[in-house]
Amino acid sequence: MSKNKKYKFTFIDLFAGIGGFHLSMESVGGKCVFASEIDKFARQTYEANYKQSSPEIFDNGNFNEDITDENLKYEDIPEFDILCGGFPCQPFSHAGLKKGFGDTRGTLFFNIQEIVHSKIKANQKDKSISVPKILLLENVKGFKNHDKGNTFKTIKNVLDDLGYDMNAEVLNSKHFGVPQNRERIFMVAWNRDLIKVEKFNFPFGIDNDGKVIFDKEKREQLAKEVKVGDILLKKEELELLEKEANKTYTISERLWAGHQRRRVEHANKGNGFGFSSFNENSPYTSTISARYYKDGSEILIEQNHIEGRPNRPRKLHPIEAARLQGYPIDNGFIIPVSDNQAYKQFGNSVSVPVVKTIAQEIIKQLL
Ligand SMILES: C[S@@+](CC[C@H](N)C(=O)[O-])C[C@H]1O[C@@H](n2cnc3c(N)ncnc32)[C@H](O)[C@@H]1O
Repeated sequence: MSKNKKYKFTFIDLFAGIGGFHLSMESVGGKCVFASEIDKFARQTYEANYKQSSPEIFDNGNFNEDITDENLKYEDIPEFDILCGGFPCQPFSHAGLKKGFGDTRGTLFFNIQEIVHSKIKANQKDKSISVPKILLLENVKGFKNHDKGNTFKTIKNVLDDLGYDMNAEVLNSKHFGVPQNRERIFMVAWNRDLIKVEKFNFPFGIDNDGKVIFDKEKREQLAKEVKVGDILLKKEELELLEKEANKTYTISERLWAGHQRRRVEHANKGNGFGFSSFNENSPYTSTISARYYKDGSEILIEQNHIEGRPNRPRKLHPIEAARLQGYPIDNGFIIPVSDNQAYKQFGNSVSVPVVKTIAQEIIKQLL
């Protein structure tokens, strides 16, 4: 969005990563007034992609590094309508240590609470300062059941005390036009004094005509048909990129042997772990995670049927990882970092089409 174009609402982007929320909110007329991201490399990607559209946040000291920084006074954060935040999920995910609120990363939710609270307090003193209208939060699917549901209950209660009603749903990226099986919980909260609605109707997918699916039971049947081939580079494109970078995305003989050995070991033990491989006809891949750079085992692309390619599978190219998360990599999105950092960033991110669809509904139903 150009600098001078009129915007419909303002938002802040917390735990911003590479800006999945930023892109989505901007696409429905939002203007970012503050962002926060601690990771040096994610900050590079963020700046490379949003400096042109949102120069103010970079020029005016509103691209914060650490949201817990004592020098950051929450009352100095510019006023905003919507708070977006996929707060760090390690403490809540099965892969993490399940520490929840006992871990500082789990307590980062309370920084969200404090930011909203500081704006409410400011409004009580000076009515010209606005109160945040909406919060859009994201976390791993297991978040709702963490600590027997107590973590989720705590968050709902905190929001309730602040004056916000909240609805939550687990959505799957594969129903939103990207071939990835990625289930994430989305929480939409609205200030009940400012917005008089009973509930937020979550979008559950997009159909072949681009229409939103609201019937959860029908999403499997109605969702736009996609396949892994939609995000893959053509053989010649991949070969050119490999040649230019002087590297290959095909996994080594040794790694492939290790993956196959572990699969047999796991199968013998009766569990389903091990590598997962896909080809262009697969309906979706498994979830890309921040650990993808390690050995790529969660998503390998089969090559044994492609003439001229090695007989072992390959990892995704970062361009493919970007497409798998719905980033506009073919329309100007820039990856200024190494492949490993890029995998980490796309693995940590939200799927853009999911958040775009939620954002559209937030505008329609709540703003
Ligand atoms: C799950 S990722 C969110 C990704 C983001 N939603 C996106 O679309 O790319 C969480 C992010 O929070 C960042 N983070 C963790 N602690 C932070 C802190 N104290 N202050 C600011 N950012 C932090 C991490 O570096 C990570 O990029």
